Amino acid sequence: MSEIAKIELGGTSYELPVIEGTENEKGIDISKLRGATGGYITIDPGFKNTGSTKSAITYLDGENGILRYRGYPIEQLAEKATFLEVSYLLIYGDLPNSEELTSFTESITNHTLVHEDMKQFFEAYPPKAHPMGVLASMVCSLSTFYPESLDHDRGTEAKDLTIHRLIAKLPTLAAWSYKNAMRHPFMYPKNNLDYCENFLHMMFAMPTSEYQIDPVVVSALNTLLILHADHEQNCSTSTVRIVGSSHANLYASISAGISALWGPLHGGANQAVIEMLEQIANDGGDVDKWVAKAKDKSDSFRLMGFGHRVYKNFDPRATIIKKACDDVLEKLGVDDPMLEIAKKLEKVALEDEYFKERNLYPNVDFYSGIIYKAINIPTEMFTVMFAIGRLPGWIAQWKEMIENNEPIGRPRQIYTGENERGYVSVEKR
Ligand code: CMC
Repeated sequence: MSEIAKIELGGTSYELPVIEGTENEKGIDISKLRGATGGYITIDPGFKNTGSTKSAITYLDGENGILRYRGYPIEQLAEKATFLEVSYLLIYGDLPNSEELTSFTESITNHTLVHEDMKQFFEAYPPKAHPMGVLASMVCSLSTFYPESLDHDRGTEAKDLTIHRLIAKLPTLAAWSYKNAMRHPFMYPKNNLDYCENFLHMMFAMPTSEYQIDPVVVSALNTLLILHADHEQNCSTSTVRIVGSSHANLYASISAGISALWGPLHGGANQAVIEMLEQIANDGGDVDKWVAKAKDKSDSFRLMGFGHRVYKNFDPRATIIKKACDDVLEKLGVDDPMLEIAKKLEKVALEDEYFKERNLYPNVDFYSGIIYKAINIPTEMFTVMFAIGRLPGWIAQWKEMIENNEPIGRPRQIYTGENERGYVSVEKR
């Protein structure tokens, strides 16, 4: 028999159904609460206990450090799959067979160019423009070049075309935002290269010199993108779903997701980690001092790359990334003093009662910045890299929301402001 939750308000008892997911996660369904109780709502700042949707895309068990995309463990995908395979899996629900993968890859490859007129937009940004600001604007601008995409539900083929265009063009827009900041000439995509190779080519080649593709770098990038590809209802994904729920087009919804990702408490943490490690190094490398600062409630400093809203034991992505980081640095022969500080910081924090009590462990972003640094990605581009990785997840979640015909996202509130009062003219105030 299915479980029922009971809530008692003013002597009346109300029954609420309990729903259960395929991994036995349970939720109390309060969707009829307000109507049934004559106005009661629930309050949950930061949505720490609120499920906003039922989703079949990603399973995450924060207590046991489990992450699966469409049922496949992240460890297996990170080791064996390509980013485009994982993108297909997230968006369409199953791993592609060889025909499906070929056709998906060809479609992505055919759409890597962006309209020439967009180059002028880049040129209007100041050289110091943060590439995340540029990327969010450029992705939203794509909607102006494809006005047919404004209709959010145009049938499968048209929807797929918009999705493929976006996956194809994001690396081009990302690399061009970097080239523009450097005031270097834009490099056009080369369609004989794969997804990761092409991005590295557009980032690092010059009209005067080819980019020498290093398989170690390509493989590290592929792994990082897969690890970031989806993470169920996090801040940026919830943003994409809520913007899309108004039937705003896909480009606008993803642009909003990019903006949400930018913040240092979310995707911006990878940039913040490197800046923090540099700050600690420049300050003499006294790790204990910085751990003490992070524990001091009167000090706003936090250890960036530590803690997670849902992982309360370990972040499985951090485990994979830590190993990848050691491998990449060894294979590339990079001796980065930041890594030593990072390792020291991790050790001190993990042995400290404050961090133990609060279940604060290194998250995915603690080591990703060190890998990006080793493969010469500039610090300001780290969060852009996260956005390229997260794109298929955002798209899959947007698509699921549209296909399930979810209602517009519109939370309620408890009003705590003034009661009604009369207008007083300015002379009498
Ligand atoms: N350094 C020091 N103290 C911390 C930290 C930290 N990094 N993270 C959490 N705490 C403390 C916090 O002060 C609070 O202490 P108390 O109970 O005494 O008030 C307690 O731990 C719980 O923290 P919270 O802020 O209530 O937890 P949250 O779930 O709201 O926040 C978080 C999660 C990721 C925003 C937070 O841990 C944080 O700010 N971490 C640093 C930023 C970071 O690395 N973000 C990347 C997350 S992974 C990438 C992604 O998926 O976005």
